[in-house]
Parts: sequence; structure tokens; C-alpha cells
Amino acid sequence: MCGIVGYVGFRDCTDVLMDALSKLEYRGYDSAGIAVFENDEIKVAKSKGRLADLAEKMKKEGKPAGHSGIGHTRWATHGEPSDINSHPHSGERVTIVHNGIIENYKALKEFLVKEGCCFKSDTDTEVVAQLLDYYYDGDPIATISCVTKELEGSYALGVIFADFPDTVFAIRRESPLIVGIGDKESFIASDVTAILRYTKNYYLLEHDEIAVLSRYSTSIYDLHYHKLNKELKTADWDISAAEKGGYEHFMLKEIFEQPEAVKTTITPRITDGLPDLRECGITMEKLASFKNIFVVACGTAMHAGVVGRYVIEKLARIPVNVEIASEFRYREPIVSEGDLVIIISQSGETADSLAALRLAKSLGAETLAIVNAKGSSIAREADMLIYTHAGPEIAVASTKAYMVQIAVMYLFAFELALAKGMTDEAECRRLTGLLLKTPDIIQDVLKNKKETQYIASGLISADSLLYIGRGLDYALSMEGSLKLKEISYIHSESYAAGELKHGTISLISDGTPVIAVATQSNLFDKTISNIKEVKARGAKVILVCRDSYVPDKDVADYKFGLPDDIEDLLMPMAAVVPLQLIAYYTSVLRGNDVDKPRNLAKSVTVE
Ligand code: F6R
Repeated sequence: MCGIVGYVGFRDCTDVLMDALSKLEYRGYDSAGIAVFENDEIKVAKSKGRLADLAEKMKKEGKPAGHSGIGHTRWATHGEPSDINSHPHSGERVTIVHNGIIENYKALKEFLVKEGCCFKSDTDTEVVAQLLDYYYDGDPIATISCVTKELEGSYALGVIFADFPDTVFAIRRESPLIVGIGDKESFIASDVTAILRYTKNYYLLEHDEIAVLSRYSTSIYDLHYHKLNKELKTADWDISAAEKGGYEHFMLKEIFEQPEAVKTTITPRITDGLPDLRECGITMEKLASFKNIFVVACGTAMHAGVVGRYVIEKLARIPVNVEIASEFRYREPIVSEGDLVIIISQSGETADSLAALRLAKSLGAETLAIVNAKGSSIAREADMLIYTHAGPEIAVASTKAYMVQIAVMYLFAFELALAKGMTDEAECRRLTGLLLKTPDIIQDVLKNKKETQYIASGLISADSLLYIGRGLDYALSMEGSLKLKEISYIHSESYAAGELKHGTISLISDGTPVIAVATQSNLFDKTISNIKEVKARGAKVILVCRDSYVPDKDVADYKFGLPDDIEDLLMPMAAVVPLQLIAYYTSVLRGNDVDKPRNLAKSVTVE
């Protein structure tokens, strides 16, 4: 939620900030703004709407010219999207950009109003700007340090002081922030992808560390003004990973990157044909000791957990609970020593997932994070960590992150089954071998994207539709339905096919589209019967099933065939592809902003 950037160097600052913000727009896109030192004076340009609206405004009104400044792209929390509520926010001598939420902003605002401060916006951020101004005594670090002691909540702040031209200050607590180091230039950014065009070297700012970027040097201090020696990290992504590379949308690019992402994630974790997660801190002894498993996550990441539950319970015979993080953290879960809590997160910063991780640790459980973003909070705080190597996922709708999350769940389940003595090495090797073949299978399925385009053309005027399936197909239906609704804005629900007749089937009328997934042999006949039930009531059925099955007219109107030679257990890795593509093309055909669907942001750092 919200992206912040800052720059000090020799380039045109406005250009750098705008370019860096364009890589962070996935974090929020209802307004944008920058503040730049122009001839030692702070010039602000901001606008409601997308970054493009700000660019347009600057074209008409002139853009700030200088070599240092800060920028912001917003996902509104306090105050509607408007010019006034857009960041940067200023006091008399201080201008700031902020990602996060100040929970005690009301009390602070009351205090400041009593002291005579006037507020222009409805934001919590302006309170921080005014508070910095109120305490400012000419020493920026001491002031930042003093003010942050009064703040409750989360923040990554980029701060400039009118009397410290060409210097950018930054601090974070909870919200992510990195400090990029180039040749005679430095950066701050919510995410390293924003600065890859300029440098791959960066420091990860820890909680309550203050960065000072000036023309001549960049230093990092603790709250007591002690200079810190930090490890300079190097990003292993290059700029092409954060660009569209000829695809019309990031989402399509990311769907097509899935085979490679699975390969890169899985291959290094296999030794002698068997899963090997030792580099992630996971040993066979440890695995053998777990009594219960909880998978806690949000949205798509939670859906990956649902696939994981089926696979783990089937192979390792350990009970697995899958929970939405925002529910888990407040329902006093019965979790204790000997339990494993797996947190799945692409961003590694999702507020509810992070809180669930902390709760699980406090209850004595071991925690395992499955995370894509390197150095993120969840990655840093978990006891064990499996990075998914999907590369940056820019489209708000998650696709390749989901794919690698389920790939990791498979690998984990195979090793767990072995550790628990529920399978032998030969079977584990066979399953691992099958998993290694999935990138080629996904590639094959991608070849049929035209079919999904055709299916999508039949959905664009639907008001509502259903996704149905049983077992792993139901798990997958949940993800298919979320993908469609979040980017096409068509209402959809996923339902366990066998449960329909207990109420939901009344939604079916003439022409209601139903996307049925039927890939599991042991449930196939049962699912087909359920499909016939909706078909008989007028549904227009799109069936995702194995290629060899030829549906009768009383079953489906359209079939999307999947390769026959995939084992049932691994079918979700193939079957999710048409569901992703159907959602993608439906959104494109409806003329939506596919990569930045309305009301959403990629990194949900508020609860
Ligand atoms: C949907 C989507 C979201 C995220 C959810 C969790 O396409 O992307 O549902 O999966 O917000 O985010 P992470 O994985 O970053 O914790």
C-alpha cells in the first residue's frame, strides 16, 4: 500500500522519481506526488489519479527541476483520493512522503491543533509532517528520532527539511524501505524494483534506522545517532524483470513466466532426486516432529495453502488447517509447541500475515515462511524460510507467485511424507521427478491461450458466474474465481460441486456461466453428475478437464483440454493456467485496467 521513493544525485530528480514511482504504482494508484529541491527551495507537484495524471499536470504547469527529492504513489487509507490528500505533505519547514498507517494520529492531531497548527488534508501523514515541524530544532536526526517515539503504527517515511537542501532523510518501522547506492547518487524506495535501472546495490533498512542521503555520502544511523555499518546487498533481478518486455500487460507476462519461475524455485531444492530443504532450515528430524500444521495467509496465497492442505494430508497424513490471516490472528487459535505454522506471502509484508506469524511464534509454534520478496518482514521473522524465486510480480493480480507457492507446497509435502515415514524414497523420487516435469506441462498449456480468449469473449457480458469443482479442483476453483472477479469486476463465487444443491444451485438460470474443473479421477464421475445438475437448469458450462474426455451436450458447452499424462495430484499446476488466462482476457475484453484493478493494491500493509 503506497510506494515511496527518494533521490539525491546528478540526474534530473523529477525524471528519476517519476520513473521509480512507475515501478511502484502496483502498490497504490489513486494519487501521486513529488517534492524536489529547486534552487534550494522545495517545489511540490501532486495530483489525484494515476502517475500519468501527475505527468500531464506537470506538462501543463511545469515540472520541478533539481537533483534531489521524494515521491509517492498512494492507496488511500485516511481521506479520499484528492489533490489535497495526495502526498507529499508539508509543515512549514518539513515535507514528507509516507507508506503505512499512523494509528494514534487523532490524538496527535488534537494536540497539534491545540498548539495552533492548521491542517489542510484528512490524512494521518500530514500529522507526522506537522509534528516534525513542531519539534524541529535544526537537527533533523534528533527531530525524527524524537517524533517517531510518539508514533504508533507503521511507517516508511521520506523526509526533506527546507534548510537541508539536497539531503533526503528516511526512517521505517514495519513498512518496507531500502536505500539504493549508485555511483555518486543514492535512492530510497519501498521496493528494490523501483531503482534497478540505476543500481542493484542496496541496504535493507531495519526498524527505526535512519538513512541520510546527501550529495556526497549516504549514512545510516540508529535512533541514538550511532552510525551503523550495514551489509550492502545486491539484487539478483535485473531491470527486464520489472518491465513488460513486449507483453501487453504485466499479468500476461507473469503468466508466461510461470514455467521458468517453477524451474528456478524447485530445481535448487532437489538433491539426488529427493527434496532437500536444508538450506531453508528444514531438516527431516524437524519435519518428523510436527503434530499439526496451520497454513495462514491472505487471498491468493491462502488459496495456495488450500492446495497444500490436500497434498500434505494425502501424502503425509498430518492434519492441516488453512486459515485466513485476518481471522486467525483474532480468534485465539489453539496453536502450541510442536505445531508448525506456515505463512505464505508474495510480498512478505501483508499486515495480517505478519501479525499471524508473530502470534504463532508467541504461542510457541515453529514458523515457516514461503515468501517471494527478499528481505521482507515475514521472511526475516520466520524460523524457517523458503524463498519462491518468481522474480518481481508487478501485476496486482497474483499468478506466478501462486504457481511457485503451490510448487513449494508440493516439494514440502513430499519431504514431509518421507520424514513421517508415510512414503518411501522411491515414491518420493517419483513424485519429485513429476514435479520437475511441470514447467514443460505448463508451457504446453500456455500454447492454448487462444481458446481461453474465445471462452472469455463469452463471459464479458455476464453479471455473475460460478466456479465449481471437488477436492483439488475445488481448491483451484477458489483461485479461478478470485482472479476473475478482481480484474473483470464480474461477480463470481467458487463452490464445492457437491454442495451446490444445498442452496447455491438456485442462482442458476438460463445462460448462467459455470466454469467447472474436473481433473481428479476419483471424483470425476461425481463432479460430472453435479455439472449435469447445473446444465439441466440452464447453465452454460465451460469444462476444464483432461483432453481425452469428450463431454456430451448435457455436460458442457465448451471444453478446455489439459494434457492427459499428468498425475491427478499435480493437476492444479496445469489447470490453474486456463483459469488465469480466462480471467485475464475477460478483463482485457471489458476494457479494464488489467494490471491495476480498481480499489486494490498489491502489498496490503494495513489490516
Ligand atoms: C490476488 C492477490 C491477493 C494477495 C493477497 C496476499 O490476486 O494478489 O489476494 O494474494 O493480498 O498478498 P501476499 O501474498 O503479498 O501476502
